[in-house]
Amino acid sequence: MSAATFPVQRPMRQGGSTSLDVAAWRRDFPILARRMRGKPLVYLDNAATTQKPKAVIDAIAGYYQDTNANIHRGVHSLSQEATEAYEGARGKIQRYINAAETAEIVFVRGTTEAINLVAQSFVRPRLAAGDEILVSEMEHHSNIVPWQLLCAATGAVLRVIPMSDRGELLMDEYLKLLGPRTRLVSVVHVSNALGTVNPVREIIAAAHAQGVPVLLDGAQAVAHRPVDVRLLDCDFYAFSGHKLFGPTGIGVLYGKRVWLDAMPPYQGGGDMIKSVSFEKSIYNDVPHRFEAGTPHIAGSIGLGAAIDYVGSIGLTRIAAHEQTLLAYATGRAHEVPGMRLIGTAQEKAGVLSFVIDGIHPHDLGTVLDCEGIAIRTGHHCAMPVMQHFHVPATARASFAFYNTEEEVDRLFEAIGEARRLLG
Ligand code: ALA
Repeated sequence: MSAATFPVQRPMRQGGSTSLDVAAWRRDFPILARRMRGKPLVYLDNAATTQKPKAVIDAIAGYYQDTNANIHRGVHSLSQEATEAYEGARGKIQRYINAAETAEIVFVRGTTEAINLVAQSFVRPRLAAGDEILVSEMEHHSNIVPWQLLCAATGAVLRVIPMSDRGELLMDEYLKLLGPRTRLVSVVHVSNALGTVNPVREIIAAAHAQGVPVLLDGAQAVAHRPVDVRLLDCDFYAFSGHKLFGPTGIGVLYGKRVWLDAMPPYQGGGDMIKSVSFEKSIYNDVPHRFEAGTPHIAGSIGLGAAIDYVGSIGLTRIAAHEQTLLAYATGRAHEVPGMRLIGTAQEKAGVLSFVIDGIHPHDLGTVLDCEGIAIRTGHHCAMPVMQHFHVPATARASFAFYNTEEEVDRLFEAIGEARRLLG
């Protein structure tokens, strides 16, 4: 056989990356080689949590194996090494989101804790009865309930920016709601239930024009698109490590230094003080003032490794690949009779939320699971979104850079099977 007659395996282009690139990325994630129910795992629940590359798993194991010690406390070398690794991770996060300094990066448990910290330490002392907090109709419960707790304690009022039936914020309504009593605007950057990418620069500019600070919930954004907190000019930005290919139990609150410096501690304990006596305690500088107790050292190191890993691929390529998958999946969805997409905003991230006539999302999820396909079904901790669309739940496929068009095909084959069985 002459060389010319060998079949040539042409790498397919998938949004700026080739199928060979994607295959290589997939090999970095041991779990993606698993079989579920006898079939190759198709993991499409990345909005709930992302999988972890070997580099992250090794960084966590390596810390416990070689460097485990408490931080900021010991004169011994091991403690100093652990401290350097922990603070080094803070530096990686600072650069990842382009914060001005490491002092603006506070380690927390996740997005939820970050929002609660802002609610209790930043907003509460500034709040009087009748003041207003502005959120949107598409918020996750973690950006609703902390404000309801605060309103119940202070007599402040929660106001809600409505959205259209495509899942886009009604900006005219937002501008009308911004007023002299607004103390904070707290909105999601990318909706977990709809995929909508909100016009956050516009939202921030309008709020700042009235002297109102803005918190962004970036849980669904930071792993999927470049985020530059200085370009956005947000006052606070919250995200979770586990949705960014890092470990659970670690997250980040970014805050402008000017705000953090003015905020009282959130929790009291070790490491958040300079001195303690029974008469008076002097609090530590930021960010340590907000990190009481032994923190999740391994988690921060794992998150630092995740950021290195994402950086080695590049967020621009990641975003392009996920947009290709979203466009392909959206096209296929339009071919399925009785399938309705929930969330059809002009600008969307890789989230496909949908319902199918006559099939409860949980039943669909169960049929898909039998095919080895993991999606999330339910209200996605965004019940007001379900109320807007008059559905109890949706099925949601959410993409990461390691997903492929072949996996989207398997999803739609399984949806076809579910329609035959249940429709
Ligand atoms: N907030 C996560 C999700 O959307 C858990 O699935």
